[in-house]
Amino acid sequence: MYDYLIVGAGLFGSVFAHEAKKRGKKCLVIDKRNHIGGNLYTEQIEGINVHKYGAHIFHTNDKEIWDYVNSFSEFNRYTNSPIANYQGEIYNLPFNMNTFHQLWGSVTPDAAKQKINEQKNKAGITSPKNLEEQAISLVGTDIYEKLIKGYTEKQWGRPATELPAFIIKRIPVRFTYDNNYFNDRYQGIPIGGYTAMIEKMLEGIDVRLNVDFFEHREELEALAGKLVFTGMIDQYYNYQFGVLNYRSLQFETRVIDETDNFQGNAVVNYTARETPFTRIIEHKHFEFGTQERTVITEEYPLEWEPNLEPYYPINDDKNNQMYRKYKELSDQETNVIFGGRLATYKYYDMHQVIGAALATIRNEF
Ligand code: FDA
Repeated sequence: MYDYLIVGAGLFGSVFAHEAKKRGKKCLVIDKRNHIGGNLYTEQIEGINVHKYGAHIFHTNDKEIWDYVNSFSEFNRYTNSPIANYQGEIYNLPFNMNTFHQLWGSVTPDAAKQKINEQKNKAGITSPKNLEEQAISLVGTDIYEKLIKGYTEKQWGRPATELPAFIIKRIPVRFTYDNNYFNDRYQGIPIGGYTAMIEKMLEGIDVRLNVDFFEHREELEALAGKLVFTGMIDQYYNYQFGVLNYRSLQFETRVIDETDNFQGNAVVNYTARETPFTRIIEHKHFEFGTQERTVITEEYPLEWEPNLEPYYPINDDKNNQMYRKYKELSDQETNVIFGGRLATYKYYDMHQVIGAALATIRNEF
């Protein structure tokens, strides 16, 4: 008999299992996939750790969480500095003095500010009615047209004029020559990949892969006193209030034989509407790899359907209201803990998932 049955060997499930074991509890972790790690999973191809479910860069401001992940793996000094490719023109991201110099030749922060203000004023938008108007009112037309419009439309599968303004609350603009995407104090990639880090968390814990909770529900529930569920909350309650919506992604990964360095950067965003993918990831650059070949992944956003992977929750009013009904049911459970991105219908970065799992542990013990 186990103390906890943990559904999902992703980050939430793995941190919970590790901490429960430390407190003398016996855990069984199951996952329907054939591997541990959930969306953090990295797989070695050509000696390169390939991020199978999209680029994952660890970043946090919280020293406790940074020390926590470093206790499972050493981290390298990788700094996320994505590049935008707009029809062959290259721009630095996030929007900073390098970008403004590339766009307009601006040399000083005042010159760049003046350019942005001129464009904002010329557009004359006072109460933005959609995402396009919102973005132009924040950063002007050039940045919007070249670096925001196409990318956002591909991500959401709809014209920016049909997307609500609230999707973009603010657009970070930096008037320094600083290409570091994150503002956090700590960032990096685990040396040896995320899978090795999760393996370390799950050391000494029973794990069963290729097991779907819903296919063996009764028999699995009978194995443990308590359930920790990190799958989709609407599925747990048999979709009784409806199906929660997501955006999905398709990843196309290729080994490139012709060169050892395809694009010179780990992440390149393709911001033109005509390019069908949103980004290309070149995985070796996350770890400063010097392998003979290189591996790239094109990322294509997709409408989600139940047979696809759910990636980004669509937190509009309709879905949030539906989620609240499921949440009310889950609040009444005494023997089930719901955690992680799918069970709470929330986009979480990794450090937030760890924070949430550690808070759940504090609550439980
Ligand atoms: P996760 O989905 O990883 O784990 C849940 C597990 O439960 C899965 O393995 C699933 O198979 C399993 N499961 C579900 N239903 C089941 C069932 N019925 N039976 C058995 N098993 C079941 N964050 C960050 O900090 N930096 C970054 O750069 C990125 N980048 C990024 C890119 C992309 C494209 C996405 C979509 C997300 C990110 N993230 C990120 C976020 C990061 O992926 C996220 O914080 C964690 O993976 C969430 O971990 P969870 O354990 O909550 O879910």
